[in-house]
Amino acid sequence: MAKLLITIDGPAGSGKSSAAKLLAAKLTAAFLDTGAMYRAAALAAMRTSCDLNDVTKLEEIIDKTDFKFEIEAGQMTVKINGGDATEQIRDPQVTANVHFVASEPSLRQRIVRLQRAFAGRYEKIVAEGRDQGTVVFPDADFKFFLTADAQERSKRRAKELTEKGYKVDLDKLQQEIEKRDRQDSTRKISPLIAAADAITVNTTNLTLEQVVEKIFGLIKNND
Ligand code: DC
Repeated sequence: MAKLLITIDGPAGSGKSSAAKLLAAKLTAAFLDTGAMYRAAALAAMRTSCDLNDVTKLEEIIDKTDFKFEIEAGQMTVKINGGDATEQIRDPQVTANVHFVASEPSLRQRIVRLQRAFAGRYEKIVAEGRDQGTVVFPDADFKFFLTADAQERSKRRAKELTEKGYKVDLDKLQQEIEKRDRQDSTRKISPLIAAADAITVNTTNLTLEQVVEKIFGLIKNND
């Protein structure tokens, strides 16, 4: 297991992904993007055109698929059966289907296994997701929980998608984010909640650099 393990959890658009990436670079740590793993599993299933409600089928697909998660130039890249899927897993259609994987205990178990295996390969890890501090790495050295208003989170997501060339309807995006918040926070297994020992950072009025400075300062002060 890693010698330094930091978890950053929070809802979509809270800035956890960018913050985790930048923090990892500052600490020369590996960045573990756990959402990417759920996305990769959903995409692998979508490619087979199977019924995404069929949990047994999804278990089989996850077990048979060769997933590779590597750090390249500070980014976590994703390969599915040898083919690069780093960009494709961000497609809004994949986003809309991830919950089929994320809400099933037997599927989460498999993805958690991939996360722990990844963490075992590096000395220093910044792990980002929904349940990193609560379920996957309860003994992490430092735990953070990032929040932000739904409106601000939608704006951030819209900017990201627009930059990638997607057409965006801001109101619809906010509705989707709120729907995903509900799905993530109310699911029975590993709901999105802050670990009891996590430090919560509200990022609504903070720049990315300010968020990372804050987290970095808290780590250095308690090292
Ligand atoms: O962070 P993201 O948008 O890439 O995550 C995609 C989905 O995966 C999100 O809707 C919730 C799920 N997820 C999860 O359930 N647990 C995690 N640790 C990470 C993501």
